[in-house]
Formats: sequence, C-alpha cells, structure tokens
Amino acid sequence: MNTFSIALFPGDGIGREVAPAAFEVARHAAQKVGTNLQPVTYEWGSDFYLEHGRMMPEDALERLRPRDAILLGAVGHPRIPDHVTLNGLLLPIRRTFDQYANIRPAVLYEGVESPLKNYRAGDIDMIVVRENTEGEYAQIGGFVHEKHAHELAIQTAVFTRHGIERIIRYAFDLARKRAKKRLVTSITKSNAQGFSMVLWDRIFREVAEQYPDIATESLLVDAAAMNFIRRPQSFDVVVASNLFGDILSDISAMVTGSIGLAASANLDPSHKFPSMFEPVHGSAPDIAGKGIANPLAAILSAAMMLDHLGLHTSAEQVDSAVRKVLAEGRARTPDLGGKSSTDDVVRAVVDAL
Ligand code: NAD
Ligand code: IPM
Ligand code: MN
Repeated sequence: MNTFSIALFPGDGIGREVAPAAFEVARHAAQKVGTNLQPVTYEWGSDFYLEHGRMMPEDALERLRPRDAILLGAVGHPRIPDHVTLNGLLLPIRRTFDQYANIRPAVLYEGVESPLKNYRAGDIDMIVVRENTEGEYAQIGGFVHEKHAHELAIQTAVFTRHGIERIIRYAFDLARKRAKKRLVTSITKSNAQGFSMVLWDRIFREVAEQYPDIATESLLVDAAAMNFIRRPQSFDVVVASNLFGDILSDISAMVTGSIGLAASANLDPSHKFPSMFEPVHGSAPDIAGKGIANPLAAILSAAMMLDHLGLHTSAEQVDSAVRKVLAEGRARTPDLGGKSSTDDVVRAVVDAL
C-alpha cells in the first residue's frame, strides 16, 4: 500500500478539536483509493511552551523535514504573548520549508448564507494567493533603548524580486488552471509605500505580459478591502503580500459565511519540503473546549493536502462530502447558525464520504 507520512500538529485551543478529526476524514478518503496516511503526532505548542519554555524542541524542523505534509490545527494561547507562540512555531515552519504560496480559497457554498445581501451559492468563488515567506513578516528589526522612556522599535519589510515574481507567477498559473474568470487582481499600497510596492507593481506588469490570455486588475489595499465587500463576485485570483493577504483572507472568509469554513495551504510548489495545511482561523480561546468549533475549515484544508499529495480523487470526494453536508444543512455548528457540535459535523462528513 502506498503510504504518506503526515505530521499531525493539533496545537492549541480549537486546533485540538478540529485537526485530528480532519486528519481522520482525510485518512478515510485516502484509504478508499488504497493509500495509507500515517500520522506522526507532534504535541508541540503552548502546553509544551509552558513546560519547556519553547514552542517546539530545538531539532523540531529537522524532525518535520522528512514528513510528506504537515496538518496543523492552530497555535495561540491567552497566557503566552502571540509573537512568542507564532514566531516559535508557525512562522519558522512556513519560512524554513519555503512554503511561499499561501492559498486561501473563499467559496460561497450551497446552504450557506453570506452576511451580504442577495448573494447565492457560487456567486463568490475566489482564491487569495498570499506571499508567505517575506514582505511584512520578514522579522527584520529590533528594539533600541528597550523599556526606557525613549524606546524605539524598527520592523522592516523585505521584498525581493525573486519573492515577488514567484508568487505573482503562481497566481497567473492558478488563474489559467482554474479557467474561471481568468483574472488576476494584484493588491498593493504603492501610493504610500513608494519602494517595495512600486517594485511589486512593476513586476506584476512584467509577469502579466507573459500571460496575455489572463486579464489583470491592480487595486490599492484599502480599496480592495472595500471591494471584497462591495463586489466579491468580481474576483477570481487575488495576489497580495504577506500582511495584506492575511487581512484580506479574513474578509473573504467572512463574506462567504464563516471563518469556520476558510481553508488554507502553505505550499512549497517545488515539493522539495513538506507543505503545511491549516485552517485560516486561530485557536479561538473564546469557544475552545466547548465542542462547537466548526471543523469544516480544517477538513477542507486536509482536502487541499490530499490534492497536493496527488490524491486528487480523494480530495474531490472530501470536498463533495463537505458541500453535501452544507447543502443538506442538518449538521451545522453555531457559527453557521446551527446547533450541532464539532463531532456531529465530522460524523456527517464521514457519512457523506
Ligand atoms: P480566531 O480565528 O482564533 O477567532 C476569531 C473569532 O472567530 C472568534 O470569535 C472565534 O470563536 C471564531 N472562530 C474561529 N474559528 C472558528 C471555527 N472553526 N468555528 C467557529 N468559530 C470560529 O482569531 P483570534 O481570536 O484573533 O486569535 C486567537 C489566537 O489564535 C491568537 O493567539 C492568535 O494569534 C492565534 N491565531 C493562530 C492562527 C494559526 O495558528 N494559524 C491563525 C490566527 C490566529
Ligand atoms: C494566519 C494567522 C497568522 C498569520 C498569525 C497567527 C501569525 O493570522 O495564518 O492567517 O498572520 O499568518
Ligand atoms: Mn490571519
């Protein structure tokens, strides 16, 4: 039997409630095509930090390296500052494994209500392609005179031609593959950020010339935030820097019903390193432990993992099962207006499979 080794990272909060369940759904789907997903569970995260003073062991990245993919729940704990948890685990994984393409689809599914008026299933169907290894998240900077009255912090964004070009190219290739609107929208803030974003705009135009069959649009990020709400139906593939893509993908999640449905893939498209799959949402301390977290974002992320592993039929089947559960509307968690538990929804997906 063909086997893939999967790093399973439940993490913190609702991550622990949704990631193992999503893994089981993916395993079930893979089994049907004769493929074994072998989990290697890593209990790294905030509890590990509270015990050991670090989010993961020193050799963690070497230990993750041989896995075929990483499935992550979420990290973040009310007792630990967020820059500690995230810079101690999630962000180093994205950077070390060169997972430069963060893919965040947002689809308005049948049976799901958008908070926007008059949108029906299928009207919104876009993908935010977020640069994931540099930009505003480069972690270049430091403190001077720390904790004195005149303290100062510097945080420098880093934009490289290599980094910009590869993410833009990824977006164009994706628009071609999707064959929907064949449109790529680039998001910047070049009216205010006169170096990095100007370089981005220039490279966008250069790359666009090589894709004459794909239409293009350039928006400033503030206008994009407005248009994600005013005309979400008009977008197809949206390419943005690390921070802008982060913010916009919470908006695209919300206009398609719930952050509890928003999946994401952190891809190393070269397959040299393991890619990582995780919901867009965080550890949601406000609902953690209540058994009501929507598991569908994690399950759809696991479907993206199956697809990346080449198990396209299994990915398709998980996706269809989720669509069926949403369309039927019997099992739905409170974020979608229902009363079901996380487990009820997971069971409904497994039954639909
Ligand atoms: P969050 O995504 O955890 O929660 C925002 C809101 O959405 C909350 O009201 C929450 O209850 C709701 N929500 C999120 N996921 C849901 C789901 N599956 N079902 C139903 N409701 C859901 O964002 P936050 O509150 O800003 O962050 C909480 C912690 O998570 C912080 O420590 C933050 O740094 C971390 N975080 C981690 C990741 C990650 O690991 N990838 C992503 C985002 C935030
Ligand atoms: C996300 C999250 C992370 C990010 C945080 C937790 C560092 O918000 O994956 O969207 O900003 O990338
Ligand atoms: Mn985010």
